[in-house]
Amino acid sequence: MSFLNFFQWLEATPWSIAMRESEWIFPFVETIHVLALAVMLFPTALMDLRLLGLMMRRESVSSVRNQLMPWIWTGFGTMIVSGVFVLSSHPVKYYNSPFARAKAVLLVLAGLNAMIFELTAGRKVAAWDQGPPPFRIRLTGGISLLVWIAVVAMGRAIAYG
Ligand code: HEM
Repeated sequence: MSFLNFFQWLEATPWSIAMRESEWIFPFVETIHVLALAVMLFPTALMDLRLLGLMMRRESVSSVRNQLMPWIWTGFGTMIVSGVFVLSSHPVKYYNSPFARAKAVLLVLAGLNAMIFELTAGRKVAAWDQGPPPFRIRLTGGISLLVWIAVVAMGRAIAYG
């Protein structure tokens, strides 16, 4: 079964039809998607700016991370669940949207960047916990910030094309 076949099947399900025909389900789920964005993106931006050595420099990276990660994971989890619901309302339209496809690629990139950080430099945080981090860490923070800004831009653009 191809992706298109899957999205065409999904579009014909009673669930997807109900999402499209209801006056309130889609706006409700989209509102959750946007609110969860704030819960996830604000602490993510703070974390990336700390990794860039541009904010909270008097606080250690591990202390900032321990305080922000619960918010980031809660927001991220809610974005994924609400995103799947939003997607299931008009699956074929979103499948054909170049912005939705670009957003999917960027989400994978954001995930890879975070995973590589956690599996490598993140495990040696004690070596660079205080003050401005080394270049590689600042690069990770910079890439993360740019990719998340691009995800948001593509998410917003989906409504227009
Ligand atoms: C954590 C990562 C995510 C972020 C930061 C994000 C961000 C956004 C943003 C900013 C919008 C525009 C909302 C608006 O202004 O109306 C949006 C829309 C959308 N998102 Fe996400 N999203 C994420 C994950 C997902 C996932 C995992 C899916 C699907 C599996 C998804 C599906 C959609 C769809 C279909 C829309 C377009 C809704 C419309 O028609 O306007 N998102 N997203």
